[in-house]
Amino acid sequence: MRLGKRCSPGRAPAGEDGDWVLAAIVEFDAVGLRYGTGAEVLRDLDFRLGQGGFYFLTGPSGAGKTSLLKLLYLAQRATRGRIRLFGEELTGASREVLPEVRRRIGVVFQDFRLVRHLSAFDNVALPLRIAGASEQEVDGSVREMLAWVGLSDRSSARPPTLSGGEQQRVAIARAVIARPELLVADEPTGNVDAEMAMRLLHLFTALNRLGTTVVVATHDVGLISATPSAQIIRLENGTMVDPTGGLKNPPGEPRRQGRA
Ligand SMILES: Nc1ncnc2c1ncn2[C@@H]1O[C@H](COP(=O)(O)OP(=O)(O)OP(=O)(O)O)[C@@H](O)[C@H]1O
Ligand SMILES: [Mg+2]
Repeated sequence: MRLGKRCSPGRAPAGEDGDWVLAAIVEFDAVGLRYGTGAEVLRDLDFRLGQGGFYFLTGPSGAGKTSLLKLLYLAQRATRGRIRLFGEELTGASREVLPEVRRRIGVVFQDFRLVRHLSAFDNVALPLRIAGASEQEVDGSVREMLAWVGLSDRSSARPPTLSGGEQQRVAIARAVIARPELLVADEPTGNVDAEMAMRLLHLFTALNRLGTTVVVATHDVGLISATPSAQIIRLENGTMVDPTGGLKNPPGEPRRQGRA
């Protein structure tokens, strides 16, 4: 499948033994989040995500997964602690800086957020058009992407006439088409069957191999077990649970690792 052009993949210089060392793309220090005057829904979050890594975010409903992803794609600001993204300090960053950082992130929202009056094709084309791609490039890439997610015959349909699973696939195609540096996906396979879920996972791993750091919130154990090289972040009650509690490859300091 064709994914749009992107700048250099995120690898730091080689380490002593010749392996690649992953630089941190996301750094959380003592981060907390509360909505309004309520109790903190996220607290004491301290972790690093390595550039080019593949991460699953798991945990029970209400644990704070979507809230954590919102911090990552800048829809919420932390109410406590420090967050750095792409090496840039976001705490106290001016509003002008945020759209620039935001353009480096692809997002699959839990509720899709497609543009209702645009066709599936035009929704998927949006990031490429915003990035200034030629219509010829847009046409080829979008057609190919829609074919990959099994929606070639629905390309002129508007979101309100698509099923939930079809909308979800359009949302995924839109999030990945411009090869973002960071992909954040919130339950991206919640509305599709197991076979399509595996196909979509394939899209994420292909993007990851091209250098994108991938963070997927999911309850789908099938996805997780099909991605043995991924690391797992588990949230319970707003906080990351003890990495020694049987978790597979919990994130810590960026370190040498393979790709998913
Ligand atoms: N906008 C909001 N205002 C107030 N409280 C909120 C808001 N959004 C989420 N919360 C609360 O924050 C907590 C974490 O919610 P969040 O949506 O992050 O959980 P989640 O892990 O994504 O759950 P799910 O698996 O059901 O999607 C919940 O207690 C929720 O009620
Ligand atoms: Mg959620």
